[in-house]
Amino acid sequence: MRIDIITIFPDYFAPLELSLIGKARAAGILDIRLHDLRTWTYDRHSTVDDTPYGGGPGMVMKPQPWGEALDSVTAGAEAPPRLVLPTPSGAPFTQNDAKRLSAEPWLVLACGRYEGIDARVPADAARRMPVEEVSIGDYVLAGGESAALVVVETVSRLLPGVLGNAESAVQDSFASGAMENLLEGPVYTKPAQWRDQEAPPVLLSGDHGAVDRWRRHEALRKTARNRPELLRELAARRLDELERSD
Ligand code: ADE
Repeated sequence: MRIDIITIFPDYFAPLELSLIGKARAAGILDIRLHDLRTWTYDRHSTVDDTPYGGGPGMVMKPQPWGEALDSVTAGAEAPPRLVLPTPSGAPFTQNDAKRLSAEPWLVLACGRYEGIDARVPADAARRMPVEEVSIGDYVLAGGESAALVVVETVSRLLPGVLGNAESAVQDSFASGAMENLLEGPVYTKPAQWRDQEAPPVLLSGDHGAVDRWRRHEALRKTARNRPELLRELAARRLDELERSD
């Protein structure tokens, strides 16, 4: 998969040299290309922003550098990429989105700063490529860079060959599958006794059925405590399935 990231802070993405993603890049599974938006400015101050039409606080990113950056990054391509714009006004970014995006051959991430990017930029890009605005949560970051890191990390770890153990992605909290959108319960490793605490004996019992039942029970407990709305969604889905099968 190829991922182009356009930003005024390319250095922000240094962590993409590390760990799983660094290895995936070295192995040729992931081709990440960073672009400094200021490459496409021509004034002495490399200006990328201006005051908002209609007034109000803050600054808006100018359409010209963004338009040229996107033209340049996508020039000569046979098939266009999918453009992903992190913004607090985007659609909530979920594990399903990570899964869906991990099947794309090419993503371009456009990191806005200040009050955002002139709205004509995504409108213009949408004439040539699919565009989506994503929010990583109901809070306001200083810019799209940390959200872009989140998108890259969540997508990359789902690419074949990136995770050491393919099973661990299936078991994740929020992965659809065995644990049906429950949170993952607690985990333990050796030693069986640590300070005054024992690991749950069932996990050392060798009884796989009992281990699965215990894990599901703990997943339900954790979900009820931390994300009760997920249990309501699960209940609604179950009821829907029952009614369909009647
Ligand atoms: N930029 C600023 N806040 C953001 C958020 N919550 N999600 C994505 N991009 C953002």
